[in-house]
Amino acid sequence: MEYNPFDTKTQDDPYPTYKWLRDEAPVYHNEELDIWALSRFEDVFAATTDPESFSNDLMFGGAGGVEQPFSQFLFSDGVTHARERVMVSKWFTPRRIAAWEPRVREVAQQLLDPLMGRGECDIIQDFAARFPMALISELMGIPEADRDTVRHWSDDFLARDPGNPDPPERAVKANAALAEYFLAAREERRRQPREDLLTVLSNMETPHEDGVHPLADGHYVGNCQLLVIAGNETTTKLIANAVLQLHRHRDQREDLIEHPDAIPNAVEETLRYDAPSQWQNRRVAREVTLHGVTIPENAFCGLLTGAACRDERRYPDPDRYNVRRDVGMHLALGWGRHLCLGKALARLEGKVALEEILTRFPGYEVDESGLKRVYVTNVAGYCEMPISYEPGARGE
Ligand code: HEM
Repeated sequence: MEYNPFDTKTQDDPYPTYKWLRDEAPVYHNEELDIWALSRFEDVFAATTDPESFSNDLMFGGAGGVEQPFSQFLFSDGVTHARERVMVSKWFTPRRIAAWEPRVREVAQQLLDPLMGRGECDIIQDFAARFPMALISELMGIPEADRDTVRHWSDDFLARDPGNPDPPERAVKANAALAEYFLAAREERRRQPREDLLTVLSNMETPHEDGVHPLADGHYVGNCQLLVIAGNETTTKLIANAVLQLHRHRDQREDLIEHPDAIPNAVEETLRYDAPSQWQNRRVAREVTLHGVTIPENAFCGLLTGAACRDERRYPDPDRYNVRRDVGMHLALGWGRHLCLGKALARLEGKVALEEILTRFPGYEVDESGLKRVYVTNVAGYCEMPISYEPGARGE
């Protein structure tokens, strides 16, 4: 058996391969791609809390050693990372995000209400892809008229052709388009600051020997891309995965309709069961020996959070989807210093989306023959999911 994260068959169902990795090759090396992978919960957890050995300071954008022209604070360590993260983190505190719930719900309702009379829709294209983008765009200050365009660029930016880790032409083009867009926005924010994240990002500075300077263009653009993209595809996948699993597990859907207070736990179980971000990129900063295998310095190592979330050493009966499971701690949102900055927002979006979907379409059916997967970097999941439901039905 082998593990190739870019193989489409593996991406369709990585879990048997992950089980093999955890049991037989917990420190795995794919010689052809020259990538390493850790897959057990304990090992992935330990690596996320050991930045001296497993560094985010990546001069390349992930597996395959692809050059990353626009650096982001996700791909940095230490002081640089901490300085930049803290500047944006106050926008994402649990308290601030909780206070935003009425607006989050309003956006969900505005997107879902027009679908009610139709009797069918694509829950991803018509809702799950638009909802997180609408919200992060509001925080960023991206005007409504630009949102679809920015979303399409973000999707293309992550695109990879099956089996090939190199960015295809459309990803390169999308990267350039996003750069141009964000640089123009910075000019505009410098002339006229606003109460938005683009203004915060535009004003970011970095210390140099002769004083502080604005961030280099590429770094500013990279940080904008990080904020737009990190919370977009991932949350779309979370919502769609929940819709699919609750189609496959009717009893659990009924349970949630009767007991909506269990929905936050269903969100955690969905994150654990099918992690939207399947692996995290790390550079091995100093030689590491684990389970008798030595990973050399400067190797690329994937922390397979998607595999760790299904580790039977941590979770009883891990391949069973169970919204009532006592999920406890999981690694689907990462851990350690790079723990997902948008975690409170992701959880709120997941909760509100499920509440509003189950209220409007309590008996929905997914047409599984119409499911379409997307093959992007480390984000796994569907991009099309047709559903049908009773027109105009509300579960009230
Ligand atoms: C279900 C949705 C989401 C999932 C599964 C997810 C997953 C993750 C994971 C696994 C990491 C850690 C990366 C690493 O260790 O290398 C991360 C980091 C990050 N996430 Fe999320 N995320 C989600 C939603 C969001 C949202 C809504 C935002 C909002 C902007 C966001 C912004 C970020 C940022 C900025 C980082 C980098 C943090 C740092 O390097 O300090 N994410 N996310």
